[in-house]
Amino acid sequence: MKNLLITLLTTGAAVLAVTVAQAASEAPAPEWEPSRLEQALSRVAQGKPAEGERLHHYLYCSACHGDDGNSPSRNWPSLTGQKPDYVMKTLLDYKQNMRRDHYRKAYVMTRMTQLLDEKQMADLAAYYASRPAPVVPPQTSAKLAKQGARLAQQGDGKRGITACAACHGERGESGVTPDTPALAGQTPEYFVQAMQMYKAGMRTSDVGGVMRMFAKPLTDSEIQALAHYYASLGRQVQAPAK
Ligand code: HEC
Ligand code: HEC
Repeated sequence: MKNLLITLLTTGAAVLAVTVAQAASEAPAPEWEPSRLEQALSRVAQGKPAEGERLHHYLYCSACHGDDGNSPSRNWPSLTGQKPDYVMKTLLDYKQNMRRDHYRKAYVMTRMTQLLDEKQMADLAAYYASRPAPVVPPQTSAKLAKQGARLAQQGDGKRGITACAACHGERGESGVTPDTPALAGQTPEYFVQAMQMYKAGMRTSDVGGVMRMFAKPLTDSEIQALAHYYASLGRQVQAPAK
C-alpha cells in the first residue's frame, strides 16, 4: 500500500510541482469566498468517523500525525480533538495552496490533499474530532507556559492585542466559531511555525486576515511563550505503571 501512495504522489507531482511553484512564486494566494466556504463546510455533518479512521491509516496520514492523530513529532501538528469544521476548512486551504511557508513543510499537505475529495475530508475531520484532545507534548516548558498565560488570557490593551482566549476558548478548547481551532496540547514547534507564517503574511487561510493581524505585533519570545502555554493545556495522562 505504501507503493500505491508513492505512485499516487509521484504521478500527480509533476503537474502539481508546476501549479504550486507558480502559485508560490508571484500569484497572491486566493482569499475565501464566504458562500463557497459555507457550502464546503455544510458537508462536515455527514462525515463518518469509522471511514475517517480507515483513511487515516490507508493514506498514511498516521505516518506523520501519529497512530490516532496525536502527533509523536515536534514538527507535525496533532489533530485529535480538533474541531471538524476547522479540519475540513484547513484541508481545503491546503488543496488550494493557501498555506505556504518558508520551510516547505506545508507542501507535503498541499500534495496530499490533491488526492482527497470533500467527502473524504469530512470523514477524516469527523474521525479526528471523535478522538480525545492531544496529550501535553513532552518538550513543554513550564516556565515559558507561565509567561504565555497572561497574554493569552488578558491580551495587551496598550498594543491592541485581543486576548487569544476570547476566540480560542478559556482552556484553548476552541470557541466562538466552529472553524476556530483548538490549541490545547498542540506541538509547540508547529504552533510557533503557524504564528510566524501568519506574521509573515504567508499563511492566508484566516478569513478576514484576523490571525495575520493578531500575530503581527507579537515578538518572537512572546510567540514562544504562547506556544508553551497552549501546549501545557493538553490532556493530562498518567504514566503507564511499570
Ligand atoms: C509526510 C508527513 C505528513 C503526512 C503523510 C500527512 N501530513 Fe498532515 N501535516 C504535516 C505537516 C508537516 C503539517 C504542517 C504543515 C504546515 O505548517 O502548514 C501538516 C498539517 C496538517 C493539518 C493542519 C493542522 C492544523 O492544525 O492546521 C491537517 C488537518 C493534516 N495535516 C491532515 C492530514 C491528513 C488527513 C493526512 C493524510 C491524508 C496527512 N495530514 C498526511 C505532515 C504530514
Ligand atoms: C477574533 C478571534 C481570534 C483571536 C482573538 C485569536 N485567534 Fe487565533 N485563530 C482564529 C481563527 C478563526 C483561526 C483559524 C484561521 C485559519 O483558518 O487559518 C485561528 C488560528 C490560530 C492558529 C493556527 C492553529 C493551527 O492549528 O494551525 C494559532 C496558532 C492561533 N490562532 C493562535 C492565536 C493566538 C496565540 C492568539 C492571541 C495572541 C490568537 N490566536 C487570537 C481566531 C482568533
